[in-house]
Amino acid sequence: MCGIVGYTGKDDAKRIIVDGLKRLEYRGYDSAGIALLVDGKLVVLKKKGKIRELESEVTCLDLVSHTGIGHTRWATHGHPTEENAHPHTDCRGEIAVVHNGVIENYMTLKEELLRKGHRFKSDTDTEVVAHLIEEERNVCSDFFEAFLRAVRKLKGSYALAVITTESPDKVFIARKDSPLVVGLGDGENFVASDIPAFLPYTNRVIFLEDFEAGIVESDCVTVTDFNGERKEKKPVTVPWSLAQAEKAGYKHFMLKEIFEQPRAIADTISGNLPWLRGESEIEGLELDGIKRIQIVACGTSYHAGLVGKFYFENLTRIPTEVDYASEYRYRNPVVDENTLVVSITQSGETADTLAAMRLAKEKGARLLTICNVIGSTATREADAVLYTYAGPEISVASTKAFTTQLTVLLMLSIFLAKVTGRDEGTEDLLSQLLQIPSKVEEFLRLEKESERVKKIALDLYRVKNMLYLGRHVNYPIALEGALKLKEISYIHAEGYPAGEMKHGPIALIDETVPVVVVATKGRVYEKVLSNLEEVKSRKGKVVAVTNEGCREVKEKSEFVIEVPEVEEFISPIVNVIPLQLFAYYIADFLGYDVDQPRNLAKSVTVE
Ligand code: G6P
Repeated sequence: MCGIVGYTGKDDAKRIIVDGLKRLEYRGYDSAGIALLVDGKLVVLKKKGKIRELESEVTCLDLVSHTGIGHTRWATHGHPTEENAHPHTDCRGEIAVVHNGVIENYMTLKEELLRKGHRFKSDTDTEVVAHLIEEERNVCSDFFEAFLRAVRKLKGSYALAVITTESPDKVFIARKDSPLVVGLGDGENFVASDIPAFLPYTNRVIFLEDFEAGIVESDCVTVTDFNGERKEKKPVTVPWSLAQAEKAGYKHFMLKEIFEQPRAIADTISGNLPWLRGESEIEGLELDGIKRIQIVACGTSYHAGLVGKFYFENLTRIPTEVDYASEYRYRNPVVDENTLVVSITQSGETADTLAAMRLAKEKGARLLTICNVIGSTATREADAVLYTYAGPEISVASTKAFTTQLTVLLMLSIFLAKVTGRDEGTEDLLSQLLQIPSKVEEFLRLEKESERVKKIALDLYRVKNMLYLGRHVNYPIALEGALKLKEISYIHAEGYPAGEMKHGPIALIDETVPVVVVATKGRVYEKVLSNLEEVKSRKGKVVAVTNEGCREVKEKSEFVIEVPEVEEFISPIVNVIPLQLFAYYIADFLGYDVDQPRNLAKSVTVE
């Protein structure tokens, strides 16, 4: 969604801010803007559409600035126009504000401010913040105090970065329910909604928490609560490198991230092995008396949760439910102190997932989160955290985050199986999991040589509908394959349990609807085979994801993608990879912006 970048220091603020905004493009946006302090005055530039529009104008500006803020906006209140783009300013043009989130009481505040004579230039909720600070500044002597007074009047969610002509070397910040991070440089400091924005300059960060505000200067950062009480904050070093946040010769981040999976899975395994081997503990995880598990997540992470249910129930026999986080809190879930709630979230900032976690906590549940972003809100609010070591995932369509989530879920269920004394066979499962990075590597290497998936995509990219089928532990993989296709190619696709097809979707099948079937070896192999027959007899074209020895599947399928044969429980990690590639190539053949699909955002921080 929206992105914030702020800078103060020795360097050229306009270059660093525009560069930072480009690194946040993946979050999704429809307009962009920048405000710079130049010789005690504010210079504001805003543009509808892509950042390159803004960049070409900013580059032409003949000015020197060392402090500024920038923003990419994803319209919520007001159309995506230049007027509604951030930064927003006060009546005198002395205060500039960028904001992520939603100010829920903006109408009341706006009416009050209008009565006091303020003039508004946009339809946004954000503009009230600039006028509110201006108003408060009339009644208190210090700008930061006025800023805090304004912030205390806001309801809703916000990450704010503000600059003012009266303090030309400071960026004022505040956060509630929307992420904001300070990057610590040498003689320069950064502010951003997301770490990749300043990763070329620093990976030492301070995470702002809810109800914290601060002043960022080139050589110091002050953090307070909303009443101005100083708070000690410990900087954290994030183990992400710049190379991970760059395309490195790949056409798109998505393709790069698909190919990064062997490394990401290997890092996730080694990062989590110590607690699985009993060499360390999962800090904060209290398992005594756990009677049920509830998994909450959204999007791709939800699909990982569906696989997780198989793992938990089969290996531990602990009853497990999986909920869309957006539904969980409205269904009055049965949850108590004997429930372990596992939230799965790549970003750790998804509003619905955080809300589900908070509800569970309120009801006494124990919270464990599986997350990719160190220091994100989910990791701070959960009792215990297990990290995926996927590195920054830039493409909106999630790939390596998903396979690393599956990896952690399998490791966690092996751990729980050991704890509950059901560890028979788990050592074998673990040793097979250790082979997975090399199996995935092998598949990707063969794909590079043969371009098998790419060629199938070339044959099929013009179709209008597709059906994805899978069973048992690979049913969620059918859902995930269909989601990938929808997200980036805008082709209608449905994922279905193969056995359920006869109760409805079979009516859709004819020669124009390709059916992607996950038919690898395992306990439901024969069953899937007969589902495949049902497709064939309706003239459906089958794309099969299968293993080397599966002759029957191959004979019945128009298109065959061979994946390495692995233990059935682990197979989702391998089987999803051709489906990611298939969606990628189709979207690319159709000429779409793969990394930034329309209407979607990487991190959905509003409900
Ligand atoms: C958005 C993204 C999806 C992602 C979902 C959940 O919808 O576009 O790719 O799966 O959010 O995100 P999370 O960060 O909580 O895993």
